[in-house]
Amino acid sequence: MTAKILRGRLLSFLARPAGRDDTSSYFFEEDGALLIAEGRIAATGTFSEIMDEADEGIEVIDHRPHLILPGFIDPHIHFPQMQVTASYAASLLEWLNTYTFVEEQRFADREHAARFADLFFDELLRHGTTTASAFCSVHTTSADAFFEAACQRKLMMIGGKVMMDRNAPGKLTDTPEKSYEDTKKVISRWHGRGRALVAITPRFAITSTPEQLEMAQALSEEFPDLHIQTHLSENDAEIELTMKLYPEAKDYTDVYARYGLLGRKTLLGHAIHLSDREMDAIAEAGSIAVHCPTSNLFLGSGLFDLERLDAKNVRVAVATDIGGGTSYSMLRTLDEAYKIQQLKKNRLSPIESFWWATRGNAEALGLEKRIGTLAAGSDADIIVLDSAVTPAMAIRRETVETLEEELFLLQTMGDDRCVREVYVAGRASHPDRR
Ligand code: GUN
Ligand code: ZN
Repeated sequence: MTAKILRGRLLSFLARPAGRDDTSSYFFEEDGALLIAEGRIAATGTFSEIMDEADEGIEVIDHRPHLILPGFIDPHIHFPQMQVTASYAASLLEWLNTYTFVEEQRFADREHAARFADLFFDELLRHGTTTASAFCSVHTTSADAFFEAACQRKLMMIGGKVMMDRNAPGKLTDTPEKSYEDTKKVISRWHGRGRALVAITPRFAITSTPEQLEMAQALSEEFPDLHIQTHLSENDAEIELTMKLYPEAKDYTDVYARYGLLGRKTLLGHAIHLSDREMDAIAEAGSIAVHCPTSNLFLGSGLFDLERLDAKNVRVAVATDIGGGTSYSMLRTLDEAYKIQQLKKNRLSPIESFWWATRGNAEALGLEKRIGTLAAGSDADIIVLDSAVTPAMAIRRETVETLEEELFLLQTMGDDRCVREVYVAGRASHPDRR
């Protein structure tokens, strides 16, 4: 790939903002530029600095007056649930049994899985998401289709074949041994190929026997550098059933702890109804509570206690949880996260929200040296955001004076329409602009 320069208004976070006025937490350059070469950001600076460094005649793509950010990161999403979104149910377990466990059975079929892998990555890119951590279905065909399409597009994607051996239809269950063998197959085929990373993925305690969680533990000991992803404490009835299935556990978190599944690379989707003891255990393990705001509101699951989790030093991330979630957009997700904190009388500044969806999620995944940043040396996964793309946004934009106000406008009124371009490993990759 030949080198090029992207010109625009650069925003990249350096650390979690201590508050809304913490300008030291980010780098913002009104007339900035990125030098892109070999899929990486070779240099970041002002436009004139970068032009001084660059070869004569280099291509310059001018994205002014739009913002240039690192691509969004979605650390909890379900690949086989594109056709589950917007399914009408009273709460989690009804939603899973009535729609989700029916739909996911279709991903045993190679052609179906391949078709949806293309649709899935188109949708992520359309919304400016360049990395995700995804649950596939129980079938290896789904993981193969997921990674095949991700590698073709040179995307940095985390994915896992779901392990589930009870409390679901027969066509959607494996066994402890098969889940172990199949996960190992997926790891050997895909982990480290291109930019693909495999996650050990026991769906949640309800759909795994103790014997299967032992297998997940064996995998995590054999492959200690892999992420582990699962669900934790999303819904009251789910917690009650979990405690019936694991009566020896102190609480829901302890189920996973007993099988050695809590570590610094463990992503715990939802993590809503946690006791102080559970938060302390998660903080001590360095695991991540992944907030899924649109899903939590849609399924009526509960309100994420960000303030208490922060006070307990639990690492946090923010995600869409499609298809329990209702939008692929991290902008829509940040808007709902803000509203949930409003209901809890906790302020969440847009500066912090945009850190969260970029560098914050990269830190949660342990990938902050490569993604979630515009720093020189990082992978060139980049988005271009237009904060005046709709007539209503353009009118509101006229009165915007600060960066914070512009970000707040983007998260409050914005969606996929704001994403003008998306670069994957330096290549322009918006599915509608090709
Ligand atoms: N818990 C177990 N599986 C799922 C799922 O697919 N979606 C959500 N939101 N929660 C779950
Ligand atoms: Zn989920």
